[in-house]
Amino acid sequence: MTVTDREKSAASDGDSVTAIPHSTPDNGSGRQDLISAQNVTVRFGGLVALSDISISVPRGSIVGLVGPNGAGKSTLFNVISGLVRPDAGQILLEGADITDSSVQTRARLGIGRTFQRPEMFVSLTVRENITLAYRMRHARSRLWRDLLLPARSRAAGAEEERAVSEAITLVGLKSVEHARAAGLPLGHARRVEMARAIVMAPKAILLDEPSSGLDPTETAQFSRMLTMLSGERDIGLLLVEHNVGMVLDLCQRIHVLDFGVGIAAGPPEEIRHSEAVHAAYFGHAEAAEGGAF
Ligand SMILES: Nc1ncnc2c1ncn2[C@@H]1O[C@H](COP(=O)(O)OP(=O)(O)OP(=O)(O)O)[C@@H](O)[C@H]1O
Ligand SMILES: [Mg+2]
Repeated sequence: MTVTDREKSAASDGDSVTAIPHSTPDNGSGRQDLISAQNVTVRFGGLVALSDISISVPRGSIVGLVGPNGAGKSTLFNVISGLVRPDAGQILLEGADITDSSVQTRARLGIGRTFQRPEMFVSLTVRENITLAYRMRHARSRLWRDLLLPARSRAAGAEEERAVSEAITLVGLKSVEHARAAGLPLGHARRVEMARAIVMAPKAILLDEPSSGLDPTETAQFSRMLTMLSGERDIGLLLVEHNVGMVLDLCQRIHVLDFGVGIAAGPPEEIRHSEAVHAAYFGHAEAAEGGAF
């Protein structure tokens, strides 16, 4: 199967979701797994991008996925979000097998995601952008009509108002909620992305390199927001990151990949002192440049 075939079949599936019995959580937290990738292997032609990888995200936790360039992070992210179908292994959401479910089904079941480059409707305000995401999830039929109508004729329900306001406050965008999305600084745009994911009522959010392009102050602010979010909403967060420092500060558990192989998994202190992790990073230019540890 080619990559294109695989992506195509992942995007248009039978939407089957099968409940299978839970195994004992092996996530280091003792908490029930929300997302669990089990023994995932992905091959691109002759290249093994992921080799028998298992990773789980418990409720209310922040799990980090790091590794040098080409380690397989994005591939695993895509397998969990449904863009890439694995050659072997399973993806479970709360114990139900979603390996064959489409991206759309996974989103409906509660797997949210953010993108590395936030894309918004630039002529709409921050609040309107977040409201549209709410309607994608809760009132799809209104979406196109709303996009075509002038703002004043778009009536909002009380529940919608409440959910959108709550998300805006949670991500710290109250002061700019009526500003146009065009020209927002990247730190704010990333928060809009988070708010849009939050109003879709996710159980888990997958974040693709959330710190890229942010300065250290914005990164620290964004990290605090993620900690609060996982705690207050009991959402499980999976962070794919280049910024190992951020992941060490923020995550309860970290998985490290190198050339598609899981070389370490554990709490930050274990990862910080792992010889295998140091060897993997010191063999790559990135560690030297970034001073990752
Ligand atoms: N669609 C694809 N077709 C063929 N090879 C691919 C494809 N996607 C990824 N690869 C290869 O699989 C390996 C893992 O890539 P992946 O993008 O998952 O790594 P990564 O850890 O996200 O890297 P980076 O830190 O550079 O973003 C790499 O060798 C990459 O070249
Ligand atoms: Mg990547």
